[in-house]
Amino acid sequence: MAETKQSAGILGLGSYVPERILTNADLEKIVDTSDEWIFSRTGIKQRHVADEATATSDIAAGAAKRALAHAGIKAEELDLIIVATATPDMFFPSTACLVQEKIGATHAAAFDLAAGCSGFVYGLTVATQFIQAGLYQRVLVIGAETLSKILDWTDRNTCVLFGDGAGAAVIGPVPAGYGVLGVELGADGHGGELLKMPAGGSRRPPSAETVAQRLHYVHMNGNEVFKFAIKVMGEAAQKALQKAGMTDADVDYLIPHQANIRIIQSAAKRLQLPMEKVHVNVDRYGNTSAASIPIALEEAVLEGKVKNGDKLVLVGFGAGLTWAACVLRWYKEDSSVGE
Ligand code: COA
Repeated sequence: MAETKQSAGILGLGSYVPERILTNADLEKIVDTSDEWIFSRTGIKQRHVADEATATSDIAAGAAKRALAHAGIKAEELDLIIVATATPDMFFPSTACLVQEKIGATHAAAFDLAAGCSGFVYGLTVATQFIQAGLYQRVLVIGAETLSKILDWTDRNTCVLFGDGAGAAVIGPVPAGYGVLGVELGADGHGGELLKMPAGGSRRPPSAETVAQRLHYVHMNGNEVFKFAIKVMGEAAQKALQKAGMTDADVDYLIPHQANIRIIQSAAKRLQLPMEKVHVNVDRYGNTSAASIPIALEEAVLEGKVKNGDKLVLVGFGAGLTWAACVLRWYKEDSSVGE
């Protein structure tokens, strides 16, 4: 099976977050909340927030340049760019096309992918298929979000949870036995109502009324999403491990979607992993949606927590509802940062 296909893995990683930091203390001045509530319920201390002039493609391009440098390849060598985002610059052109222009990836095809916070792992899976099929050699997958632009800053239920950021990975051929070894993707459209931006699309086009009703913001049933996340994170990770012919005991390091420390701890427990084997940065970034997994992965690699041959599980969940898990055996000839 896998022996006949070209193996695909990550050749380089990069991330980029806006400079401005919003702390829980800052939020206390905006909505009726407290550092104590936010930290104890979510594990978040601060998040990065883009300024007015910065859009998703800007930070996506920043992450892309770092990933290219880390991989040691030029933008012109890219065959395809996939941007996973729920906060594109605009409906069209795609954010991937905007990034293509910004980084000068003149030979790359480009499209966006919508799978909520699961988007990066969905994108990684799509990229892997192109490499395994021999159609492409270099695919850039970016998870990038400026959630701050669609948050209702008067709604304490949502505005404290999210942050802006971008993470990118160059996907290409790796030696047999390394790279992506097992994947589990899923969706349950019944849960679409639980996390959505109700207006602005073809169902409810923008109007003075939709703006007055604050329908262009994130609307979420946090409790239901929480229950879904607790169930699906461990399940998805274990299914991906099964597909890779592995069990919980094989996992060297877990890179979970950074939505809430309690959800991360529950996934770790289900996989019987001590927290030392789990990457956590939700305290510093909040939930950056599709960007959270690649940002965490790059951080883990730069901190030396991931070594060649390590078996990683990347797992996330998000709007849709969606879930996605991937078993990745790390391989990088030179794991130093490029830029
Ligand atoms: N500050 C202070 N109080 C807040 C608050 C805030 N920022 N946000 C909500 N509250 C209040 C609620 O109004 C509620 O008050 P009430 O009991 O008087 O109605 C109370 O806190 C408890 O809310 P509850 O929803 O039970 O808290 P929780 O422990 O479930 O935590 C979340 C809420 C949102 C942190 C949690 O449900 C969660 O993380 N859900 C998943 C969200 C997620 O990951 N979304 C992204 C998916 S990719």
